[in-house]
Amino acid sequence: MPEPFYVTTPIYYPNDVPHIGHAYTSVAADALARWRRLWGDDVVFLTGTDEHGLKMQRTAEAEGITPQELVDRTSPAFRELTTLLDLTNTDFIRTTEPRHYEAVRQFLQVVYDNGYIELSTYEGLYCVACEAYYGEDELVDGNCPIHKTPIEHVTEENYFFQLSRFEDRLLQHYAENPEAVQPDTRRNEVLGFIKQGLRDFSMSRTSLTWGIPLPWDPKHVTYVWFDALFNYCTAIGYGTDRERFDRYWPVDYHLIGKDILRFHAVYWPAMLMAGGEAPPKRVFAHGFLLVGGEKMAKSGSNQVAPADLVAEFGSDGYRYHFLADQRFGPDGDFSHEAMVARYNADLANNFGNLASRVLNMAVSYCGGIAPAERVSGPLVAACAQAFEGARDGMDKLDYASATSAVWDLIRAANSFIEDSEPWKLNKAGDADATAAVLGDCLEALRVVALLASPFIPRAATELWCRLGLDGSPEDQRLPDAAAWGLGPISTTLDKGTPLFPRIET
Ligand code: ME8
Ligand code: MG
Repeated sequence: MPEPFYVTTPIYYPNDVPHIGHAYTSVAADALARWRRLWGDDVVFLTGTDEHGLKMQRTAEAEGITPQELVDRTSPAFRELTTLLDLTNTDFIRTTEPRHYEAVRQFLQVVYDNGYIELSTYEGLYCVACEAYYGEDELVDGNCPIHKTPIEHVTEENYFFQLSRFEDRLLQHYAENPEAVQPDTRRNEVLGFIKQGLRDFSMSRTSLTWGIPLPWDPKHVTYVWFDALFNYCTAIGYGTDRERFDRYWPVDYHLIGKDILRFHAVYWPAMLMAGGEAPPKRVFAHGFLLVGGEKMAKSGSNQVAPADLVAEFGSDGYRYHFLADQRFGPDGDFSHEAMVARYNADLANNFGNLASRVLNMAVSYCGGIAPAERVSGPLVAACAQAFEGARDGMDKLDYASATSAVWDLIRAANSFIEDSEPWKLNKAGDADATAAVLGDCLEALRVVALLASPFIPRAATELWCRLGLDGSPEDQRLPDAAAWGLGPISTTLDKGTPLFPRIET
């Protein structure tokens, strides 16, 4: 029976079009999902859109349409992003779907019945863009610390979730599960926040109607974050299929940006505990992609559209840049020049040249039939290292080190060709020596295609075909498939056209 593995992205606000920030988290989640499938896991990979709340209601009002009309028009762009980037999500959830209403209502009732929700009056400072309250001390020049926009003074009779009752349980949970918030800087931030003392938070609104009504008091709609977080449970059958829910919950990885860490690492585990469910196994919060030093905002002028980059670099080129060239953790600046440079160096040159040189030589010197690799050769160790490096990197979600381990193998194979000069061996009529070198290189290419497949799935699959191998890299199973010696013996090779044409600047 395969092991279950559950990974999620945030569900994005569809109040505007998707940008490379959203795509960043989604591509990372996809590479992880593909990697786990290579290990034979039964992967559930969830993404979707977060469609309730004041922000959506106001955007709709401004356009003179209903919020439902708005989200029906804007959510599809996020679904299209999954196709554009070759994401293998197994579900796409919208919080306006009936399945979600039903699951949230059931969960709310459980939390209410357990005595963690009570009615009281609240006065506070609200940022609509964040859909969150702030304390006076958290403001920057009287503005929202994230959006730098004016904060609104709000007084409401609301239901409160008693977050303050969870301080000890959360601290104990994080003491017992040091990997539950990653990386460590984020974990420390969360611990610091909890230790300062937690305030109850308002989990319902009467000031708007766009949301899920509370089952016991339908004048109130559920606070958008309370509803949104629960999407992760809805999608795996909470309230309708307990067996399925228990198979995938607790989630293996919630991948998020650092902007929504507190919701995922403080509110969410407490909500789950209040409802008698286990907290997430791991929350990984990455940094922001900056453009010209500024965080991209949906309405900002510094937005970069994923579709434009995919048109230029292909979906593999797109994925490779954000996985290999942007560290997963710290903030990083997006630069078009850096993307072109890395594409040309790593994909057009290293990867593309290795594939085309080896295939071309094997077609001309060996009649297009792949010679066998040697039992031991200079690339055996390089293959083993690539596999170990990819595995160690992926275990830490260090995509840059995982990809660089695979590219080390590519570089090793290219150097091996330069050192052994198969064109000279061929010219000298030494068929055995020529075949030995090319056989080793073909086997290395097989391992490259396999290990690179979570990152650049199209090129990896194409290379697999050109090597004349059956099926696709996705059908392979680690660790066995990474072992040296399963190579393309006597397959029929295909030279093909360049996998990554150079981009001229
Ligand atoms: O917060 N750099 O939705 P959202 C890196 N609906 N990642 C970025 C980014 C950037 N510049 N901009 C956005 C919400 N992201 C809620 C989430 S989850 C239950 C509800 C990514 O549309 C990153 O993952 O504002 C960030 O956390 C997320 O998009 C925020 O998307
Ligand atoms: Mg946001």
